[in-house]
Amino acid sequence: MKILMATSEALPFAKTGGLADAVSALSLALAKQGHEVRMVIPRYYSIDRSKLRLLDGAMGVPTGGYEEWSAVYTAALPGSSKNPVLVYFIDHEQFFGRDGIYGVPSEPDFLDNPRRFTFFSRAVFQLCRKIGWYPDVLHAHDWPTALVPVFLKYGERTGEFAKTISVLTIHNLGYQGIYNRDNYYYANLGWDVFYWAGFDDWNMMNLLKAGINSADKLNTVSPNYAAETQTQVHGFRLDGVLRYRSGDYTGILNGIDTEVWNPKTDSYIPRPYSSTDMTGKAAAKEALQKAFNLPVEPDIPLIGMVTRLTEQKGVGELFGPAYGSIWSICRDMNLQMVLIGSGEAWCENEIKSLAYRLSNFKAHIGYSETESHLIEAGSDFFLMPSRYEPCGLNQMYSLAYGTLPIVRNTGGLADTVVNFNQETGEGTGFMFDDLTPSAIYNTVGWAVWAYYNRRPQIEAMRLTGMKHDFSWEKSAKKYLALYEKGLASG
Ligand code: ADP
Ligand code: GLC
Repeated sequence: MKILMATSEALPFAKTGGLADAVSALSLALAKQGHEVRMVIPRYYSIDRSKLRLLDGAMGVPTGGYEEWSAVYTAALPGSSKNPVLVYFIDHEQFFGRDGIYGVPSEPDFLDNPRRFTFFSRAVFQLCRKIGWYPDVLHAHDWPTALVPVFLKYGERTGEFAKTISVLTIHNLGYQGIYNRDNYYYANLGWDVFYWAGFDDWNMMNLLKAGINSADKLNTVSPNYAAETQTQVHGFRLDGVLRYRSGDYTGILNGIDTEVWNPKTDSYIPRPYSSTDMTGKAAAKEALQKAFNLPVEPDIPLIGMVTRLTEQKGVGELFGPAYGSIWSICRDMNLQMVLIGSGEAWCENEIKSLAYRLSNFKAHIGYSETESHLIEAGSDFFLMPSRYEPCGLNQMYSLAYGTLPIVRNTGGLADTVVNFNQETGEGTGFMFDDLTPSAIYNTVGWAVWAYYNRRPQIEAMRLTGMKHDFSWEKSAKKYLALYEKGLASG
């Protein structure tokens, strides 16, 4: 099967969150199973052109009123095996020749984002024409490429694209690409399509909503989130649209890249380890305590966090001044806590101040692969109190590293973590239902209590988590089944 991934993020070229990990790992897994997979992403300023190959000739992309001109670069996706995944980079100086993927701190959502990603979505079709390669499946991801299914349905499904189907994966329903409808002219689709495709959103235009209405098949990144998004609580106002499309909508759990996230081979940690020899985990704990300037104490529970500091991740309930539970957790309990993260300014500032005032809480504001690996390996517990979580990768990394997740019972967290059962000792983590400061406090307290009082059960839980298979192979098969369903009904 020929599959083209249209995406705004892909590891290792451009990443703001798990989308980048998921798209690249899925592409590699599909290629490993013998399929012809290619990817297309914008050539952001940060992607070094000297490492890419320039295709001959410029590429014209029709937009509202005039044609944009761009260049196309290509390279193989790192990690590709015998069957390489080719990546195409769309180069357009005005739209992508600047810092930032969606924005910069002074302008978090670029004013011209609707035009940047409308252009990019149309360029996907021109690219196929330019290289003379037409996919069976056009696979789009989130709002930035949500117009790909719309363009296919309304205009492009002719000639070589006559049999092509579109699949749209929702990685996060919280971001929909809602913009002033004055930008609509740029898609060159006509006002009839505006209403047919359901762009209309309270006098604005909603790119994700139009994509949901137009894609042949839809999915999100965990079965539980697929169900949740069809309810008012988690539907971000699109629950009705998703219920309407429920026959074509499913949940497929993400995998993790087991070449990168594997305690047996991880080069970021002092010593490799496995479920049969856990001594390397103790070494990682020591290294982590040193790296974060904490006293080296093997027998104090260490809680780690790696996160974007945004409301989605429950940071208000944890760090909100005079409200969040972090202060009581660190003051009342004999534990250590480390965090690496970046995001909203209020939260970064609050965390810096807390790290200064609490001796057992240490934090680095920023982004670091090295430290994220060390935290996953060296912590006893991993805290993820998400308000909502389409899938979540970090809790799966934690399980693979024998680190017990403390998570809210929501989205993909509920699909991957099994709550500790004190009677039987079964489970792989600790869960709570309501997102409140006291629920986080109590559940962390429960985990810490178990660490001191149920140590054999804790050690057994670590091993259960480590044995679980979170590889992409299984998930890739489910995507193939979805593609096949789409092609059969197309
Ligand atoms: P989301 O995409 O919603 O942020 P996920 O759990 O799916 O959540 O993916 C987050 C990804 O980003 C993980 O690979 C995680 O390790 C990484 N990550 C997030 N913040 C940081 C950070 N400050 N440093 C290093 N990695 C980070
Ligand atoms: C989004 C979600 C996260 C998911 C990731 C990859 O960023 O917030 O839960 O794991 O996409 O699908």
